[in-house]
Amino acid sequence: MTVEALAEDTRRRRTTKLGIVGAGAVGATLAYAALMRGVAQTVALYDVNTAKVRAEALDLSHGIQFVPMAHVEGSDDVEVLADSDVVVFTAGAKQRPGQSRLDLAESTIGIVRSILPRLVEVAPDAVHVMVTNPVDVVTYAALQISGLPPARLFGSGTVLDSSRLRFLLAEHIGVAAQSVHAYVVGEHGDSELPLWDSASVGSVPLLRWRTPDGAVALDAAARERIAADVVQSAYRVIEGKGATNYAIGLAATRIIEAVLYDEHRILPVSSLLDDYYGIGDVCLSVPAIVHAGGVGDRVEVPMTDAELGGLRASAEAVRATARRFGF
Ligand code: LAC
Repeated sequence: MTVEALAEDTRRRRTTKLGIVGAGAVGATLAYAALMRGVAQTVALYDVNTAKVRAEALDLSHGIQFVPMAHVEGSDDVEVLADSDVVVFTAGAKQRPGQSRLDLAESTIGIVRSILPRLVEVAPDAVHVMVTNPVDVVTYAALQISGLPPARLFGSGTVLDSSRLRFLLAEHIGVAAQSVHAYVVGEHGDSELPLWDSASVGSVPLLRWRTPDGAVALDAAARERIAADVVQSAYRVIEGKGATNYAIGLAATRIIEAVLYDEHRILPVSSLLDDYYGIGDVCLSVPAIVHAGGVGDRVEVPMTDAELGGLRASAEAVRATARRFGF
């Protein structure tokens, strides 16, 4: 990086502010991940639980000398998020063992309804990233509640699920997860699906990857098992520790970087679709270009008829839940 670019990057970072709604396990972990990666000069946490949000901000501040320079704030007044460049919404009901994400819709939409209008007032230029579940339904509802343009409010979607898929494929094949390029699309939930046909390892199509003895690495049974493992991942973690927080915190930080650094990075975020292979009026995850303005063009990934059928079924599952709550 040239000296001028470094100076510009420092100047930009001096002014950027990340706002986080919710200081629970996900919000606090996201704040920690964002500080570790130095994505913003100010990280502000808002939560109705005064003692908790102040304690999280204080604890993070005590470690500030070990991370790129930043300032951490925490308050029960949403004003603390004023003028944020990106706001990540993590507040919501926790998924209990065995509970589906769609079961959380009613309580979470109520929280969004109570906070979002004021949030849009105090941070009028922010890009909003919804993380709270069920994130696709919540994103759709939040767009209607806020009146924001669809580019400026989207959900973390299956960025996390795609990371889980890449981890499982990397383990199965014996390569680094960073060398596996594969997407999970659809609902961030039980109806999501991996796109096997377009996946690759390095520059080799995944379905043509061979083991050292020449066997097909990913037969139908392996693909079915891995797809089920991805869907079950959150349930498995919640069963053991009560919540997921690290991977979603890292996934959300990746999304924040794409916005704050204007990366034009392709990520499977949950956005309002309009005639995506004929699918519209629903928030769903498909690969999209994420940049400083929020979510841009959706990438029409080549899909088999079966994959497209799975995406359409996922759209129906999300739309049915949204309709149940009047959206
Ligand atoms: C998970 C939560 C974020 O999948 O829905 O871990």
